[in-house]
Amino acid sequence: MKSKVLITRKILPEALDYLKEHTDYEIGATNRNLTKEEIIKKIKDKYGLLSLLVDNIDKEVIDSAHSLKIIANCAVGYNNIDIREAQKKGILVTNTPGILTETTADLTWALILAVARRIPQAHKFTRRKKFKGWELELFLGKEITKKCLGIIGMGRIGKAVALRAQAFMMEIVYSDPHRLTLEEEKKYKATFLPLDKLLSTADIITIHAGLTPQTFHLISKEKISLIRKDAILINASRGPIVDEKALAEALEKAQIWGAGLDVYEREPDIEKKLLSLDNVILLPHIGSATYETRLKMAMMAARNLVQGLKGERPENLVL
Ligand code: DGY
Repeated sequence: MKSKVLITRKILPEALDYLKEHTDYEIGATNRNLTKEEIIKKIKDKYGLLSLLVDNIDKEVIDSAHSLKIIANCAVGYNNIDIREAQKKGILVTNTPGILTETTADLTWALILAVARRIPQAHKFTRRKKFKGWELELFLGKEITKKCLGIIGMGRIGKAVALRAQAFMMEIVYSDPHRLTLEEEKKYKATFLPLDKLLSTADIITIHAGLTPQTFHLISKEKISLIRKDAILINASRGPIVDEKALAEALEKAQIWGAGLDVYEREPDIEKKLLSLDNVILLPHIGSATYETRLKMAMMAARNLVQGLKGERPENLVL
């Protein structure tokens, strides 16, 4: 008999075909996210859960899941799951590491270039037929080549961003609780700096840390005040790492030159001020959004789920 599982929201058909072979699944919703109440209702008789990063799998959800053996999160981040509560109940938790590294690093670079060269603003201007001919001072942006890139969080994605920065002949500095080995620092041409020093030094600062109680508001109002007036801040990791209100104020007062955000403190809500500012580019959390990567993520989550249901050790156990 196939185990009953809940897939909170429709995933790519290839992954559904695989899950059909191995499980008896219910799809929570096709074109919207489930509410917590809906998850609680649907999870009661399920042995497996395939969750997305928007699903808040907290203690209340876990307590209502009487038969649950495994939560397979379709994301590398798992801050949406109370992993300690899952552990107490002996529920396995998995994620999808590695496969979205390059895609997210690419998107980070798209954001860096878009902010520095004001691409969306220039596009809008051209579309509106405002281009009346070449002008010396039209859409002056910021130079990237040979500038200093500050990477906060030098894990897989931070490193992939650093490798791309080498093509721009940038000086790379990084801050992380764990220093790289000397060989790694050489490979990534990266120099360690304490966070405050990095913030006051770099021309472009990009965040690639996981969200934990330690990194919540790591980039606080006080830290934002250390950033140079002509610098750019990029966040394609998790929104709550930055104090969004403080960032909006700093951008409004031109205390920093520009920002590029793919993630927000209270998704899908966005600090109102940010929506009207011209010196920030806003994306709808699309860091890993290529067809290839999202398919790999869905397949990895599906495989993890099936392995857990079979009593095997899933490949990507978080704990
Ligand atoms: C993740 O996997 O954590 C990413 O944010 C998805 O885009």
